[in-house]
Amino acid sequence: MNQVVANIPQAASATSASPAPPAVTTTLSVNGTSYTVTLDARVSLLDALRERLQLAGTKKGCDQGACGACTVLVDGTRVLSCLTLLAQCDGRHILTIEGAADDDVGRALQAAFMDEDGFQCGYCTPGQICSAIGMLDEFSRGVPAAKSSGDASHPGTLTDAGLKERMSGNLCRCGAYVGICDAIRRVHDARHG
Ligand code: FES
Ligand code: FES
Repeated sequence: MNQVVANIPQAASATSASPAPPAVTTTLSVNGTSYTVTLDARVSLLDALRERLQLAGTKKGCDQGACGACTVLVDGTRVLSCLTLLAQCDGRHILTIEGAADDDVGRALQAAFMDEDGFQCGYCTPGQICSAIGMLDEFSRGVPAAKSSGDASHPGTLTDAGLKERMSGNLCRCGAYVGICDAIRRVHDARHG
């Protein structure tokens, strides 16, 4: 079923002499549900998820690409939804934390984060889990880490340094990094022996 969620005409700016850009209609799938949304072309995927689709599990931290709290998967690839325009997602499949339990790896990660105390306040956790889903898939497909991390000297092995580097875009203000890494390690080891 396709849900037409919002039809927001462009609003005239009271303070700017420049006219607002036209609204853009985007059809996308989020956690298996299809939505058609008409919004200002400048609206980010993050704001559309939280404020229009009522999917507030994806968190807004910095809103400028620095913390990873807003991480979701677009066609299986992890992205920062605060730096992604909704209009870029036409025809795309989005997975957010609300859909993670329907993903085998996502479900395993949720359980592992619980078992390993991979959180404290939990604000970063949706982004950590979505990022870990994408990261483990990247590793399985042989995508190299961005920098030298020890992976190169241990081909096919997700080293501790490699895991940390690959997850370095996701900050945790509570400092729950030990539990986060242990949870991801547990899921990786269960899949790869
Ligand atoms: S809210 Fe997107 S990176 Fe911080
Ligand atoms: S658990 Fe609080 S920010 Fe990570």
